Amino acid sequence: MRTSYCGVLGAEHIDQEVTLCGWVDRRRDHGGVIFVDLRDREGIVQVVFDPDCGEHFALADRVRSEYVLQVTGRVRARTPETVNPEMATGQIEVYGLAVQILNASETPPFPLDQHNKVGEEVRLKYRYLDLRRPEMLSNMRFRSRVTNIIRNFLDQRGFLDIETPILTRATPEGARDYLVPSRTHEGKFFALPQSPQLFKQLLMVSGVDRYYQIAKCFRDEDLRADRQPEFTQVDVEMSFTSEAEIMAINEEMIRTVFQEVLEVDLGHFPSMPHSEAIMRYGSDKPDLRIPLELVEIKDLMAGVDFKVFSGPANDPKGRVTALKVPGGNGISRKQIDDYTRFVGIYGARGLAYIKVNNREDLEEGLQSPIVKFLPLDVRAAILDRTAAENGDLIFFGADNHRVVTEALGALRCKLGADLNLYTCQWAPLWVVDFPMFEEDGEGGWTSLHHPFTRPACSVETLEADPEKALSIAYDMVLNGTELGGGSIRIHNPDMQHAVFKVLGISEAEADEKFGFLIDALKFGCPPHGGLAFGLDRLIMLMTGSHSIRDVIAFPKTQTAACVMTDAPGGVDNRQLRELNIRLREKKPADG
Ligand code: AMO
Ligand code: AMP
Repeated sequence: MRTSYCGVLGAEHIDQEVTLCGWVDRRRDHGGVIFVDLRDREGIVQVVFDPDCGEHFALADRVRSEYVLQVTGRVRARTPETVNPEMATGQIEVYGLAVQILNASETPPFPLDQHNKVGEEVRLKYRYLDLRRPEMLSNMRFRSRVTNIIRNFLDQRGFLDIETPILTRATPEGARDYLVPSRTHEGKFFALPQSPQLFKQLLMVSGVDRYYQIAKCFRDEDLRADRQPEFTQVDVEMSFTSEAEIMAINEEMIRTVFQEVLEVDLGHFPSMPHSEAIMRYGSDKPDLRIPLELVEIKDLMAGVDFKVFSGPANDPKGRVTALKVPGGNGISRKQIDDYTRFVGIYGARGLAYIKVNNREDLEEGLQSPIVKFLPLDVRAAILDRTAAENGDLIFFGADNHRVVTEALGALRCKLGADLNLYTCQWAPLWVVDFPMFEEDGEGGWTSLHHPFTRPACSVETLEADPEKALSIAYDMVLNGTELGGGSIRIHNPDMQHAVFKVLGISEAEADEKFGFLIDALKFGCPPHGGLAFGLDRLIMLMTGSHSIRDVIAFPKTQTAACVMTDAPGGVDNRQLRELNIRLREKKPADG
């Protein structure tokens, strides 16, 4: 139906006759001449109709925004005063010879260039219109380009693209499962995969050796700007390999994507033990673009006459930390109050600070609500340890380890953004040497990654002191976002049992839930490991999008719904009967 896309026309097409198909972006009537900006996937071109084209002029006069047209015309140079340097096709226009209205459009619920004026709900309800916007189409195209590069990269290195089931059993990755009732097995449910983890491990048992999949994963968890209930992983697994080899291949893949798409050289990715990331940056995914670091001052505070600090300083589970903001002296009282409220989100009960006006004068040169509680030698030691200079501000956190880490870690990122402290555009990092387990808050343990991650120690050491056990796991972090994570897996049934035991999963429960995996480990399972990237997060970072929803064609809202299709939806009683499901009547007490 067409000879060319609209957006690709340029000076080289002058005098050619072209046929275009697209949507009316804008129509203007300039005293007897009609201008139609025609838009397609590749961009916009201006078409001009004058009364010389007879009946076609009358048709052009009738078109409105978002009508679908087929236009034939001749490309001509614009006069110098009408050249539009803002437009890719701004050197030329198409002189319209004929137009056909392929379809009409009702007035769209929002003009595409005014999407900001309507709420995101409206954009999501009419997502097919929202996706017509050049920014959104460009994100989709970007995503397609990245997956194409990833597929080629992995294909060239011998990875086989293999699909794994969506209707399956639970794969524990730390979220709730989405369940699907079975009609043929009364009272039983499939779980949608939280990741293809177990299947990719089974493929290693099968001898596939190198697997990848661009896989849909489903997790029923609290949503944030970088989380969706249904998202996509670039999922990779390899046999007879090492942590170093897996990290090297995947690092090269991400470097290649950045190089080819953004022409950015990410260089070699540094790596950092998890414990160091927590102590220096208050995060297991530190944003290394921000030069601020947490400084431990627990030892300095043990003897001070200020309970807020001395309490945690004398508690083995406490943490007392300083965060210096160079030149932060100008931060106002109101801003400090705002930051105090901000750290409150993480459970911090206050945010002490010292403004360093004159570090030589320990009596009068420090402006602070708490300095009166600190002896002069402690004041001097804090200034020394934080290397504070005149004009700096030092924040303090004192509480249990988790609260201080999370509060000051988040404050560090917020200060970085608010004060624009970024020292570079891209800061990739591997975080390694994760603990195997963390406390679950109920006296037990949960996996930091997943229960199939290999500990770096023996079964005996693991069982003797689970708290100290490290795992052979690694996360790739970019600009403070966890892009991907993986590990060397357990390939020995005894170790797998030991890990389940620490997690409080009985042998019977393990056999019931993961018997197939434990069986497979017994039949010649090769040593193996892998990793998975969050594709949506990668595209979000690369395109500079603020939300993961802007890089997913049909995302869900914050409440895990689709406002366009109105999913999740009700089902009729016949369907429920077939599934042997009866909905409980909601009593007021159920809330
Ligand atoms: P993990 O649970 O760390 O590991 O997930 C891997 C990556 O997937 C992305 N991701 C998400 N993206 C969007 N929305 C979500 N709700 C969401 N949850 C996770 C993150 C994360 O780094 N099977 C293991 C991988 C392995 O060990 O090989 C796994 O799923 O970017
Ligand atoms: P208060 O003694 O509660 O008036 O607090 C004195 C100062 O210490 C205030 O600036 C508080 O914001 C700060 N503060 C209180 N609790 C903490 C805490 N746990 N960590 C850091 N600063 C705190």
